[in-house]
Amino acid sequence: RGGKADSRGALVVLEGLDRCGKTTQSTRLVKNLERVGYSAELWRFPDRTTSVGKMISSYLSNESQLDDHTIHLLFSANRWEKRLVMLFFVVRNLAKIDQDENNVWLQNVLGIISTGQTLVKSLMESKLKSGTTLVVDRYSYSGVAFSSAKGLDIEWCKAPEIGLLAPDLVVYLDIPPEKAAERGGYGGERYEQLEFQKKVGQNYQVLHGPTWKIIDACSSMEEVEEQLQKMVLDCVKTCQEGKPLSCLWS
Ligand code: TMP
Repeated sequence: RGGKADSRGALVVLEGLDRCGKTTQSTRLVKNLERVGYSAELWRFPDRTTSVGKMISSYLSNESQLDDHTIHLLFSANRWEKRLVMLFFVVRNLAKIDQDENNVWLQNVLGIISTGQTLVKSLMESKLKSGTTLVVDRYSYSGVAFSSAKGLDIEWCKAPEIGLLAPDLVVYLDIPPEKAAERGGYGGERYEQLEFQKKVGQNYQVLHGPTWKIIDACSSMEEVEEQLQKMVLDCVKTCQEGKPLSCLWS
């Protein structure tokens, strides 16, 4: 809908404290975008379905203990592994091409990887370039805001995220930590503690940049939904007009 035939989708990230309403709003947003004719997909981090995601999930539900640096890197790996999905797909298809040439092809692919060249596009990039808008429930900013709230150095926390795609728009659903704590289901996971969430909120402030917009998450669900959709539609149009993709942390 609209834009040039080869126009790309937008990378939209929703961030905020636990229980700010991100998950409800991102689900509604995708439905609303589809309803008005855009191709849209909902992604979320952590993606608890992968093997790394399962380790994260077990840590969050206090079933396992991990060093703070280790869990930080696992959260980051959970974002990076979206590239590998595409890589496995390519290798599997190459293996199907021609049994005789199979080894040569595979060696070439492995050679490309080992020299650090990336002929293989990340799954995220190919989705965006095919015109799909990605609505992402938490991204690298959560990684940095939560881990640095434990006392880890903020620059150290940012480092493993360098090179991931930078969002076109980050919407911060703003809620006072005390209000979030009153919402249903609070306290079920490791980080859902008031004092910790206050520190996370302060760390998010440091990360705010030109691509960030803030919505008052204490407004009604409908009001948040409406504001969010308007912001995202504006962003989708800018991307359709040819705004280039960039990488974190530019
Ligand atoms: P969720 O409730 O949105 O599934 O997120 C699970 C928790 O993980 C939440 O408290 C935020 C935290 N988190 C990190 O600490 N680092 C990250 O990179 C991400 C994506 C989430």
